[in-house]
Amino acid sequence: MIPAPVLSDRNYERFRRFIEEKSGLDFPPSRRNQLEHAIDRAVARTGLPDASALFDSLQEGRGSAEVESLVASLTVGETHFFRNRPQFEALEKRILPSLIRRRSQERRLRIWSAGCASGEEPYSVAMLLDRLVPDLGAWNVLILATDIDRSALKKAYLGIYGPWSFREVPEHFQTRYFNGEGREREVAPHIREMVTFGHLNLVEERYPSLLTNTNAMDLVLCRNVFIYFRHEVARSVVARLYEAITDDGWLLVGHAEPSQLLSGRFSVQNLPGTVVYRKADRRRSSDRRASSDRRASPDRRRTSDRGGSWDRRQTRDRRRTPDRRQTSDRRHAPDLDGVDVAEDALKLWAAGHTEGALSILEEAASGDRGDARMPYLIAKLQAGRFHMEAAKGWIEVALARDRLFAPAHYLLGLISEEEGRHDEAARSLRRSVYSEPEWPLGHFALAGSLLRLGERRRAAAALQTVEQLLEGRPEEEPIPEGDGITVSRLQELAGIQREILGLDAPGIEDR
Ligand SMILES: C[S@@+](CC[C@H](N)C(=O)[O-])C[C@H]1O[C@@H](n2cnc3c(N)ncnc32)[C@H](O)[C@@H]1O
Repeated sequence: MIPAPVLSDRNYERFRRFIEEKSGLDFPPSRRNQLEHAIDRAVARTGLPDASALFDSLQEGRGSAEVESLVASLTVGETHFFRNRPQFEALEKRILPSLIRRRSQERRLRIWSAGCASGEEPYSVAMLLDRLVPDLGAWNVLILATDIDRSALKKAYLGIYGPWSFREVPEHFQTRYFNGEGREREVAPHIREMVTFGHLNLVEERYPSLLTNTNAMDLVLCRNVFIYFRHEVARSVVARLYEAITDDGWLLVGHAEPSQLLSGRFSVQNLPGTVVYRKADRRRSSDRRASSDRRASPDRRRTSDRGGSWDRRQTRDRRRTPDRRQTSDRRHAPDLDGVDVAEDALKLWAAGHTEGALSILEEAASGDRGDARMPYLIAKLQAGRFHMEAAKGWIEVALARDRLFAPAHYLLGLISEEEGRHDEAARSLRRSVYSEPEWPLGHFALAGSLLRLGERRRAAAALQTVEQLLEGRPEEEPIPEGDGITVSRLQELAGIQREILGLDAPGIEDR
């Protein structure tokens, strides 16, 4: 066997830091060998002369797909259906039934498989739900499945698996949920359709976010992902997942994952053969936070008593609705007071003081009744915490002030999507694109919506528009209303979407 070339100390240190920064993966000296092997393979794959050239290429951002391949080769993407039986029993017997009971009125469930690898985990959850919810068709279920590794996501989307993936699948599941006779079998279409795949780097990305639909989750599975992360990185991922989970929601991690990462934030529940984590009901802690919010906004009681029931007279106050040009000018060069107010509020929101942020925005919204942005921001905050009726009300206010305010149509589209009204969602997103044809986010969301309607050709065209609009723009420029997403990231997301969904193939068909 040819021994792997040893990295110079300098290169080992450079790669170690770079990989950690990009993916959170930790390569202490005890795992240096593993890093060296992966770099050796990456050098061969890319045809670059040596490790230094590979490092330069990665750092210059020419190879974010290459960073992913490197990360993929450094983690074990090993997974299979119903991996870890006691956890799936806990899901089947305790967690999902309790969530189904809790959501039986609104018939809505939101589940996230974070680090889903080739998709066996989210599909297993979909099969359990199919068995547990008799009127599933009447429910609005999101099973979001994300990973950093796009080749794993491609495989997941295809839904075709070999015997190794089936090794723990009970017989009755095999006959009911898989098609095909040979060694390779395909997940049944109605199960495939329950899962939405997306590319998301848990270390670099901002979440929870409406944009990536990573908010208000009832259940997150992030299993066998933290084991690869350095402790501080894992802590920060746990903190963000905590924010993405609703009060009383659940988190499942792999059985080898360090429990001290989670026990401070989540309550620990021992179920037969496994330990699961639950977010405490924040009513108690929100009482504490409410008093500090009150300090930040003397007006709070009035505001929250209204519970988002905006002043309906405002919605009819069209006399002051500015014409389109003025509004869009204001959006691109907003008056400084407005910016400060919005920024202060968004900072408060990011720090978890939603009520305080809402107070500030509501005061600003009632001050300038010609401004559509403040009510839109209120709607965004309300939607972020899943107060959809309040959010829709504020969108109505924003659109009454400026019926061509693209972000408001966009947000309404995301909400309709979330509520399972896909045709309405596409209509709102088309309005967003019509109102602001040069805003790439509108086209990006429209592509997702068209895909859900099976209109793959139109979706491919919308993604192409995104790429055209972004061409030549500075890579690090933030996308307006994009929750921190930059030009290069949106370019990448559009490309990945086309790749994963096979939209680049010639003669793509709608379905
Ligand atoms: C061992 S698999 C776990 C699959 C599944 N959750 C399970 O337990 O069977 C680990 C997955 O984490 C993904 N991963 C590693 N770092 C990641 C990151 N920074 N963001 C998102 N996914 C990541 C890897 O690509 C891999 O697919």
